[in-house]
Amino acid sequence: MWRLIKRIPVWAMVGAILFAMTQAVGELLLPTQTARIIDDGVATGNMQAIYSIGGQMILITLLVIGSATISVFIAARTSQNLGRELRNEIYSKVLRFSKENMGDFGEASLITRSSNDIQQIEVTVMMIMRMVLLAPAMLVAAVVMAVISSPELSLVYAVTGPILAILIFVILRMVSPYFKSMQRKVDDLNLIFREGLTGVRVIRAFNRSKFEEERFATANRDYADTAIKAMFRMSFLMPIMTTILSLTNITLSWRGAHLVAAQELSVGVILSFVNYSFIIMFSFMMLGMIFVILPRAQVSAQRINEILDTEITIHSPENPVSVNPAEPGKVVFEDVDFKFGNAEANVLDNISFQVGPGQTLAIIGGTGSGKSTIANLIMRFSDVTAGSVKVHDHDVRDYSLDNLRQLIGYVPQKANLFAGTIRENLLYGNANASDDDLWYALRIAQSEDFVRGLPEGLDAPVSQGGNNFSGGQKQRLSIARAIVKHANIYIFDDSFSALDYTTDRKLRAALKDVTADAATIIIAQRVSTIRDADTIIVLDKGEISGMGTHDELMANDIYREIVESQIKEAE
Ligand SMILES: Nc1ncnc2c1ncn2[C@@H]1O[C@H](COP(=O)(O)OP(=O)(O)OP(=O)(O)O)[C@@H](O)[C@H]1O
Ligand SMILES: [Mg+2]
Repeated sequence: MWRLIKRIPVWAMVGAILFAMTQAVGELLLPTQTARIIDDGVATGNMQAIYSIGGQMILITLLVIGSATISVFIAARTSQNLGRELRNEIYSKVLRFSKENMGDFGEASLITRSSNDIQQIEVTVMMIMRMVLLAPAMLVAAVVMAVISSPELSLVYAVTGPILAILIFVILRMVSPYFKSMQRKVDDLNLIFREGLTGVRVIRAFNRSKFEEERFATANRDYADTAIKAMFRMSFLMPIMTTILSLTNITLSWRGAHLVAAQELSVGVILSFVNYSFIIMFSFMMLGMIFVILPRAQVSAQRINEILDTEITIHSPENPVSVNPAEPGKVVFEDVDFKFGNAEANVLDNISFQVGPGQTLAIIGGTGSGKSTIANLIMRFSDVTAGSVKVHDHDVRDYSLDNLRQLIGYVPQKANLFAGTIRENLLYGNANASDDDLWYALRIAQSEDFVRGLPEGLDAPVSQGGNNFSGGQKQRLSIARAIVKHANIYIFDDSFSALDYTTDRKLRAALKDVTADAATIIIAQRVSTIRDADTIIVLDKGEISGMGTHDELMANDIYREIVESQIKEAE
């Protein structure tokens, strides 16, 4: 928490506190003035005194309102600024997360952390700037003022004050663990909610709606129960405080009445005492709130810092090599092993191959055999455990990440489009591409006809995740996006799977236009897609079980099995 607070500019902190203090002093002066106006003015019928003291009181009130407004303004601005900064930092950090980093947190938790947790910090910072110094200062000042006005009556506080303090402390001690666990439970809720949203069709198709609803309801109940438990304990706070305050005031009036009767005290002083009681109680309440919110903010701050402190496992080297994207493409794997973080078995084992300019390398293999992982290693979404991946004769780890990724036209297995327009999505490949470039890429990706058919053409809207397009249309748009890049290395991760045989063939024929100098890697499940490749790798459980042309590989058992099973299907 402290680390986050330290980011607040000193002037803002000092300013907010100074104005809050001014407000407090004003508020503390008012009861004394009330006492004076009653004793010197009302009691004696002295209009002159009433006017002059009344005038002072109005001035003080204006001062109180003015400084309160300024202090709230500074505090609000500062806390919102801090929140904005943190959100930006978290977002840019998360964008640089590697696959492993991402897995450590989970998407749902990252979303809670960047929304709910930051909000918690904003509220807390606001409160700290307004109250943390103010509450104790007001408390002490009110007590001092009370003692000055009447030491004898102040003795009442000596009894009720500590009782109040102890009760508040005990209640808050009981509440704070619940507040802590509430934050974690929001995470759980978000996780289920997100999964439900993204998987809504699967849930329906498998008739799991009921099950999912119950899962959500359970987590929801769990959260609500915790919140209720916390609130229930909190709910004792107010009645206890008012009771004690009332008792204090009764005692004050009773003792005060005696003192007034004995002419040792004026009515005004008693009234000002009642006011001080309010201030004292109010200060206790502020202190109480701080103690409630601080533990919760502490948890939030920790969760935010965890993200900010995460060491990004994949970053650019100090002195990167630099290569022009126009260079003829080349990708080489040398004895590459790969395994995930603390997993035991290798996902890839001793993989070596190379693909040069104008060549096409195809990778075929069962699901989970490690095909996408090979693509991830070239893109440096993960780093090899052993061996080396080379692009244009340099290890991928020698490039700056920007440069490396600039060299590669990558079509991910899951065609991911972004909310916006088709044009905006295609420009992801190259922000300076002209409309002609875009249409050319669409033509090669066999999507010119369907985009021309849309009333808005290139400006046709794309909804979140590209959900307003079919699977095949999304795939072709994401292929076009990669072509716009004009790179000399292309990776198509299962990018033709949603296309019919004719479109698949036409697309690959058209690709020859752009891949003349390029090293092309095609990952596929269909033999027909990869049949013409210069080299085909048969991947089996992370190992290369065969490598060669289609004809050569017909001697390979696994490959022949794949071929035969697909011929059977076609029949
Ligand atoms: N984050 C992860 N942590 C641990 N293991 C993982 C992780 N992601 C993938 N794996 C494992 O890595 C292996 C290879 O996955 P990969 O995605 O490369 O397979 P693939 O050949 O592309 O499969 P598909 O044809 O289904 O796309 C799988 O067996 C999977 O269990
Ligand atoms: Mg895959």
